[in-house]
Amino acid sequence: MDKLIAFSGTGHPALAKAICKHLDLELGESTVIRFSDGETRVKIVDNVRGKDVFVIQPTCPPANENIMELLIMIDALKRASASRITAVIPYFGYARQDRKDQPRVPITAKLVANLLTVAGTNRVLTMDLHAGQIQGFFDIPLDNLYAIEVFVDYFEKKKMTNLTIVSPDVGGIKMARAYAKRFHAGLAIVDKRRNSPEETEVMHILGEVKGKNVLLVDDIIATGSSLVEAAHALRQAGAQKIFAAITHGVLSANAVEKISNSEIDTLVITDSIPLAEEKKSQKIKVVSVDELFAEAIKRIHFEKSISVLFDGVGR
Ligand code: R5P
Repeated sequence: MDKLIAFSGTGHPALAKAICKHLDLELGESTVIRFSDGETRVKIVDNVRGKDVFVIQPTCPPANENIMELLIMIDALKRASASRITAVIPYFGYARQDRKDQPRVPITAKLVANLLTVAGTNRVLTMDLHAGQIQGFFDIPLDNLYAIEVFVDYFEKKKMTNLTIVSPDVGGIKMARAYAKRFHAGLAIVDKRRNSPEETEVMHILGEVKGKNVLLVDDIIATGSSLVEAAHALRQAGAQKIFAAITHGVLSANAVEKISNSEIDTLVITDSIPLAEEKKSQKIKVVSVDELFAEAIKRIHFEKSISVLFDGVGR
């Protein structure tokens, strides 16, 4: 392990430390400062010459700051002669703009992939990408982990019965199917229409939910509209308890308030994004992906297969 070194940006140092603890590794020393005009300056304090370097930084809000900081850290590491640089991005932001769905719009997921590559990233380690195809936006190796087993551990302890897994939109069917298979549960789908970035409307529910306990699964909760609207429609359709397992808790705008006032019993998110103190709520539980990332980093470092971490759940 003497060639392995990990650094954290300012995006989520608590997760970076927790990952390093599982690796029995001290986090590498670096400083990040802001100039008075807002520009970022990074200094890598530890020697990285010839090292296998992992930079841990989710590109969560403030997304622009966190992305820029990650790029600058990678540039500094490349210029300091690191032998390999892996960007560990527990939450890959800007992923929802992944195709031209209207004229004259960008594909930001591809743009961020290009920026990372040009900065000097040799490989990427991420989790529950918004769309699997984003892997193809990179011409460098990318490992996409799945949070499913972490959620399975949480919900198995709750001994839930009579369960149906629900996707809150058609785009999430593959993810929901993987959960239904893993939980040996039924599957239902909410047919949602998005009227604006903050507003969604439920059109239909496909599948049987009457009298069932339901678990809504999704990759991202941002404004909470998709989840809260889906929960309401499910309750109207006769669902009993309503739980949600959502990998990335962006929780923007008034999402927490919406969830508190909703029919949702418990929302479980991972710690891919830090949960600010003011966003903590009785209804929101956090499960950690620190061990999952630590194991993946170890396997990448020792050139071992990492597919054992998600055997049978790949989508
Ligand atoms: C959409 O395709 C995603 O999987 C999520 O359903 C969506 O990003 C959630 O956004 P919001 O919480 O703002 O409804």
